[in-house]
Amino acid sequence: MNEIRWGVIGCGHIANTFMKSMSAVSNATVVACAASDTKRAKDFAKTYDITSSFGSYNDMLADRSIHAIYVATTHNFHFEHIMLSLRHGKHVLCEKPLTLNAKQASAAFKLAEDSNLLLVEAVWTRFLPAIAEVKNIIKNGLIGEVQAVQANFSLNRDLPDTHRLLDPKLAGGALLDLGIYPITIADIVFDEAPINITSQHVTAKTGVDLNSFYTLEYINGKTAQLSAGSKMSGPTYANIMGDKGVIYIPNFLGAKSFSVRIEGEEAKEFSYPFEDGHNFSFEIDSFTKALLNETESSGDVHHTLSVQEMPTNATLRVMTIMDEIRAQWGLMYDNE
Ligand SMILES: NC(=O)c1ccc[n+]([C@@H]2O[C@H](COP(=O)([O-])OP(=O)(O)OC[C@H]3O[C@@H](n4cnc5c(N)ncnc54)[C@H](OP(=O)(O)O)[C@@H]3O)[C@@H](O)[C@H]2O)c1
Repeated sequence: MNEIRWGVIGCGHIANTFMKSMSAVSNATVVACAASDTKRAKDFAKTYDITSSFGSYNDMLADRSIHAIYVATTHNFHFEHIMLSLRHGKHVLCEKPLTLNAKQASAAFKLAEDSNLLLVEAVWTRFLPAIAEVKNIIKNGLIGEVQAVQANFSLNRDLPDTHRLLDPKLAGGALLDLGIYPITIADIVFDEAPINITSQHVTAKTGVDLNSFYTLEYINGKTAQLSAGSKMSGPTYANIMGDKGVIYIPNFLGAKSFSVRIEGEEAKEFSYPFEDGHNFSFEIDSFTKALLNETESSGDVHHTLSVQEMPTNATLRVMTIMDEIRAQWGLMYDNE
């Protein structure tokens, strides 16, 4: 196999970014798309010159020439669509959050492993070159030992109650949609589970969190102070504070640059540009390479397929944090 043939489930907003990013990836082609609405699938296929479109996910999954599926539906459907795709023998890259909770995520990873299929949560931040360099800088001790992380991701939009960010039926809420990013940057930095979690939230009319705030405490008092909101102005940023210096990342979830200021020195700027619209090219590339390398190197030996930027245990750790925060608020979704 020298090319990964992709299918897309869900032809909504974010599937467009996936398609635009594809143009920057080698050895990968989207050959099919499926939507719950035949016309939406057809229009999407026409826009991106995709060979086949389907008004049924099952019909697309029956195509044995498709290797991998990108799940781009709303949160409430992720578990169902991952399991459906895995049962059809497809590798899966699924939008964040992988599932509603850690229990579902564990079940999905188990099926993937038992089926020798790759399942990855599409947290694009983890795959960005700027973030890889931030990790190197921390590892090399440039800012000393990290003591704290501060991060915020907020929008300030007047959304209708039916928007997926606010609709509990679509598993909306700032935490699962936006808060996952500040939690992710803390997870990247500390690379372990917090020992204590406290949280607050402002509730929307619909019952989900509109704005929310989380403090994660790690061993030796290291702390992450995080927030996210869909009705809250504010800079989207992360500060990673060590005992010798600080890394500041503006718009950290799509990081193209950051600065490092060592105590007593001028701040240094680092730049890792990529074209607007190619946001997901790094994650698609990494996923594609993992599959192509696997087919090149695999003999009879069964081993777990994975990508190093987004390991299974990191998805489970972040899902577990979000489970705990929602438990503190008493926020449950249908089918939990
Ligand atoms: N990585 C990022 O930067 C980023 C940014 C935005 C969103 N996301 C993630 O991408 C996923 C989709 O978000 P989106 O903004 O693309 O959502 P969206 O456009 O509102 O919906 C995506 C698809 O989900 C299905 N869907 C939506 N509402 C539905 C309903 N009421 N009933 C049945 N199906 C429904 C539809 O699939 P069909 O087309 O099959 O009908 C729709 O096309 C979410 O997991 C979100 O967290 C990621």
